[in-house]
Amino acid sequence: MKKRTILITGGAGFIGSHVTRLFVNKYPNYTLYNLDALTYAGNLENLTDIANKPNYNFIKGDITDEIFIQELFQKYQFDGVLHLAAESHVDRSITDPLAFIKTNVLGTANLLTAAKNLWKNNMEGKRFYHISTDEVYGSLGKEGFFTEETPYDPRSPYSASKASSDHFVRAYYHTYGLPVVISNCSNNYGANHFPEKLIPLAINNIKHSKPIPIYGKGENIRDWLWVNDHARAIDVIFHTAKIGETYNIGGHNEWTNIDLIKKLCEIMDTKLGRPKGTSAQLITYVSDRAGHDMRYAIDASKLERELGWTPSLQFDEGLEKTVDWYLANEEWLDNVTSGNYQSYYEKQYTDR
Ligand code: NAD
Ligand code: TYD
Repeated sequence: MKKRTILITGGAGFIGSHVTRLFVNKYPNYTLYNLDALTYAGNLENLTDIANKPNYNFIKGDITDEIFIQELFQKYQFDGVLHLAAESHVDRSITDPLAFIKTNVLGTANLLTAAKNLWKNNMEGKRFYHISTDEVYGSLGKEGFFTEETPYDPRSPYSASKASSDHFVRAYYHTYGLPVVISNCSNNYGANHFPEKLIPLAINNIKHSKPIPIYGKGENIRDWLWVNDHARAIDVIFHTAKIGETYNIGGHNEWTNIDLIKKLCEIMDTKLGRPKGTSAQLITYVSDRAGHDMRYAIDASKLERELGWTPSLQFDEGLEKTVDWYLANEEWLDNVTSGNYQSYYEKQYTDR
């Protein structure tokens, strides 16, 4: 197998850690650099099992730092980039939109510029893969699916920042011939998901018998995909997609929030040995999210038809595996909810 030097951004986050693990284990000939700023969402505990592998390297750094990023590309001569670093939580984007513009738009533009500068004389075999979200397409009614042709219509500061970053990626392709690929994926779930997002937040709250906040009437619909299946799709797209192409990734697995949470409550009752119906009593309806998108649903047929990817896991099995992971990794959950790991990083990386 060909040797390659690949930059993964945001590899200490939820999806990034699964992608990094897959690449480190599957491609021993690749030298992988995980660049992550270790924000509240980045956690090196997600990667302890691969931290000492010879083809894995961690670099703490910020994608918004232009000079640092230019120097990094020159120093390591990356020939591939998997760009996952982002601010990723819609609720946080509502309270602090500028942080999202900075990391998601400016950070992406910095990486694109550094790749362009490094590869300008020879684009052969190079690849800049931008990992994005289905939220750029806006909100669906009861019918229809997002395809790769659906016009962009972002409605939250998060999705607007991701849409903008997608536009910059395409602009660098058309203007400079940068070899780019984009994918837009639906909601992920699985191990290592930060407990501010719906599923891990509900698992954590049920465990501690705390209220489960459901926004509005709980009727909003999301299309859930197991994170390991997203990582598999990213592997296939990175290696086989045609330059300039976009692929939608999704699980054909739509759930209203309330039905999903009821299902999760049943699983948790069984796993925790609590009488049926105990966890569901924690469901608490709270004020709706501002501008709350009604429904996301992905048509992933292009990815299936052209590159042969399909999800490997049914939702029942995936959700149960996810609950098992959280219950078996209490320390991880306690650390991220207590903020212990943040103070550890502050000490560990001061003066570096
Ligand atoms: P996450 O919030 O769990 O992780 C983001 C990572 O990026 C963290 O490790 C964080 O430390 C790092 N980061 C943030 N700002 C940075 C900066 N300025 N410089 C360097 N590193 C920085 O996010 P996630 O859920 O794993 O999402 C990863 C990517 O996938 C994002 O681009 C997101 O838009 C996209 N995506 C996510 C989902 C989902 O359901 N979570 C679905 C589709 C697409
Ligand atoms: P989230 O996990 O934040 O993902 P996204 O907003 O990117 O889809 O939220 C998933 C759905 O769950 C969304 O419709 C908002 C809703 N939600 C709640 O009802 N309660 C919560 O506490 C959270 C975090 C989300």
